[in-house]
Amino acid sequence: MLSKQDNDTMCQVGPGTPMGDLCRLFWIPSMTSDELPSPDCSPLRIRLLGENLIAFRTTSGAVGVIQNACPHRGASMFFGRNEEEGLRCVYHGWKFDVNGECVDIPNMPEGDTYRDKIHIVNYPVTEAGDIIWAYMGPAGKQPAFPDAASSGDMPRSSTMSTSAPRNGGPHDPGFMGVSHAAPASGQPESSVCPHVLFT
Ligand code: FES
Repeated sequence: MLSKQDNDTMCQVGPGTPMGDLCRLFWIPSMTSDELPSPDCSPLRIRLLGENLIAFRTTSGAVGVIQNACPHRGASMFFGRNEEEGLRCVYHGWKFDVNGECVDIPNMPEGDTYRDKIHIVNYPVTEAGDIIWAYMGPAGKQPAFPDAASSGDMPRSSTMSTSAPRNGGPHDPGFMGVSHAAPASGQPESSVCPHVLFT
């Protein structure tokens, strides 16, 4: 039987943990495309590798994945307004694009550049095979996305998704913990995560 310490090492996937650092080197299947069905649709709460995140689809169809807490006063970005290529915080109106850059702060004087210093944690995203994949690791170690997956030719047998009523809350690990998405290539060195981890 594993000791508590070994069990923690194997199971904990938050930032800075050994397994968390390993998992962050892969592209992670984070949601299906139809969970963000249309431009400027409602934001979606997701929880990946122990991090509470918000996903949104912009006016032009790009997908952003950002931290839940607004960097200003910590309000949840889930309640933000998704409009005109960005998600605007419901509290004081700071607006962020899919790259995490602050693109608008209401009531700032013309020409003020304070917003250029503001960034919300964001993760790169790729949409392929009706799945939205996120990369949560260091920028310098981001692997190329596999050709088979990016071309949309992923065989149906290599993808599976399940869904369950969430009532607007995070993914229920009781359901999502048993979901799998096989690597498109089926090879262990694949840059896509062989396992869905919603913990
Ligand atoms: S808390 Fe988000 S803009 Fe103030």
